Amino acid sequence: MTEQPTRPAPDARPWPLGVEGIAYGGDYNPEQWPVATRVEDVELMQRAGVNLVSVGIFSWAMLEPREGELDWGWLDDVLDRLHAGGIRVALATATASPPPWLTRAHPEVLPELADGTVLWPGARQAYSVSSPVFREYAVRMTRRMAERYGSHPALALWHVDNELGCHVPHDFSDDAAAAFRRWLEHRYGTVEALDEAWGTAFWSQRYSTFDEVLPPRQVPGFANPTQQLDFARFSSDELLTHYRALRDVLREVTPHVPTTTNLMLSTGTKWMDYFSWADDLDVVANDHYVRAHDPEGHVELAFSADLSRGVADGRPWILMEHSTSAVNWQERNRAKGPGEMLRNSLAHVARGADAVMFFQWRQSRAGAEKFHSAMLPHAGTDTDVWRSTVRLGEVLRALAPVRGSEVRADVALCFDYPAWWAAELDSHPTQALRYTDEVMAWYRQLWLRGVTADVVRPGADLGAYRLVVVPVLYSVTDADAARIAAAARAGATVVVTYFSGIVDEHDHVRLGGYPGAFRELLGVRSEEIFPLLAAERVTLDDGTTADLWTEKTHLEGAVPVRTYADGVLAGLPAVTRNDVGQGSAWYVATRPDELGLARLVDELLGEAGVLPTVPAPPPGVEVVRRRRTAEAPDGAATGFLFVLNHTAEAVEVAATGTDLLTGAEARGSVHVPAHGVAVVQEA
Ligand code: GLA
Repeated sequence: MTEQPTRPAPDARPWPLGVEGIAYGGDYNPEQWPVATRVEDVELMQRAGVNLVSVGIFSWAMLEPREGELDWGWLDDVLDRLHAGGIRVALATATASPPPWLTRAHPEVLPELADGTVLWPGARQAYSVSSPVFREYAVRMTRRMAERYGSHPALALWHVDNELGCHVPHDFSDDAAAAFRRWLEHRYGTVEALDEAWGTAFWSQRYSTFDEVLPPRQVPGFANPTQQLDFARFSSDELLTHYRALRDVLREVTPHVPTTTNLMLSTGTKWMDYFSWADDLDVVANDHYVRAHDPEGHVELAFSADLSRGVADGRPWILMEHSTSAVNWQERNRAKGPGEMLRNSLAHVARGADAVMFFQWRQSRAGAEKFHSAMLPHAGTDTDVWRSTVRLGEVLRALAPVRGSEVRADVALCFDYPAWWAAELDSHPTQALRYTDEVMAWYRQLWLRGVTADVVRPGADLGAYRLVVVPVLYSVTDADAARIAAAARAGATVVVTYFSGIVDEHDHVRLGGYPGAFRELLGVRSEEIFPLLAAERVTLDDGTTADLWTEKTHLEGAVPVRTYADGVLAGLPAVTRNDVGQGSAWYVATRPDELGLARLVDELLGEAGVLPTVPAPPPGVEVVRRRRTAEAPDGAATGFLFVLNHTAEAVEVAATGTDLLTGAEARGSVHVPAHGVAVVQEA
């Protein structure tokens, strides 16, 4: 195996200025409170060990109550108080929600849905990022913020807008339509090239000028799939363009201050291609909320954190928001259980976060989020939530040595936003396929075994991985397919699942048989897809079953690993393996049941020689290692073993070193109480 590339020393990387150790804090919305409360806030932040807060995110209307009338006094006061209290500030551009005077004067900035419904003011994010008018106002506000506070001693980081695309990932307004046409002209050059890419010979869709092209607004029947895909690409790019416009102003005025925006990297956010945003963020910041209804919500959390690290290209990242307890926007908003807030926080740290932030500091008493938990709840400081807030501050101080250390994984899980969009388009062999369910089925098996994975884009450098998992990569470019094949040739075990490699980036089928781009790598050719009906299952020759998807697959160099034991495809291969160069390439042409998938994952890990972080971690216990390499500024190579006990029983886990949370020595094993956590600095 080749060594992972050497990265710049941790302290050379952009990071919130002046923040020591692990950053700790949350969104701070002092404009909702009287001055006396703000005084108390700083005292309580100090008590909790808070060292970074995000300020001004939704402050535009309070800073500019009427066009051109600026009221800076309250924000000056807040920043001065925070500075006096030793607390650094991630200052927002204040542009995440336009003030009412703006949308009244310029209703054309409002976004529209596919059916022409206008999204009106009265909540937040009621703007179109394609609106030149809105852009001008947002840029002006950003410049004012930068000019006023660019040299404020509390300023540590710029926070552009907020969760761009959270409520309005797609805008179908006339401004968006015009921007879409410009984007298409840039992408294709000529309308003939667009016609070719969009396959407009079908259903009389041929365009003779870009002026005829629209976003995929509400249509009769199925919209052109490539038009839908390009609109998704455009919409993600358009949000990024808006970020860049504001970021460029900040860079111009305050080149020394790093800039970010908070992403939503999880299985719940589909429409922003965050891998393509990464290069524009000085530091990656993520917001994550546990799915309260999911008993394995901590597995999805781990995936989100591994994806954040993937987008950050392995560098430490900021957990910009999560919740101390319940949120307000799920069907039933479960409060967190014993130790859950600490475990959730440290699960992010274990997987590369060097900052733990919350939405929000003080629980609101008015507005739509008043039942959303916060670091300081309605009931005040005599509460378990507040005690957890204080405890977390102590824990993060004890974890200061972890800062800048890295996670190394032997497994890459390929994740691709455009492939997600394309896989879930309509008029496919089945509508029951959910991309993230397929990804999570594989991720979960790795999690259950205590194997750490990097979640990376398929075009990433896969050279350092022993196992590369490629679930449902329906659309893939030639270049990405070549990278995956190269990983197998160089010695990795590669596993590709069904409905992969089928189309190119224009959603045109790769002819000659499925799985198109991966046929040669996998040594198979499928002639026809046989989707299964809702209750239908097939049995495989090892006695396990499969559902959703089957294919009439022929071997063209590969050997069968499993075959169908019944059904119309009885006797044909369901799982195959092909020797490729120094490695191998497996094809999983159906969706195995849990036992079937578990067995396959064991075989794949065995072949690839991938071991869990510690041998056989107890069920429900998450074990992840961060490492500080010898290139780190203090020159000391060391590991930090995070052990997170998600069960109601105490456990012993193999470890040697010092538990940074208790100071206890672990000699061969560490004791972790029910619902508890240990972080062992390894000798
Ligand atoms: C998002 C937003 C916050 C807040 C939280 C609530 O993350 O960025 O402003 O609304 O959700 O969970």
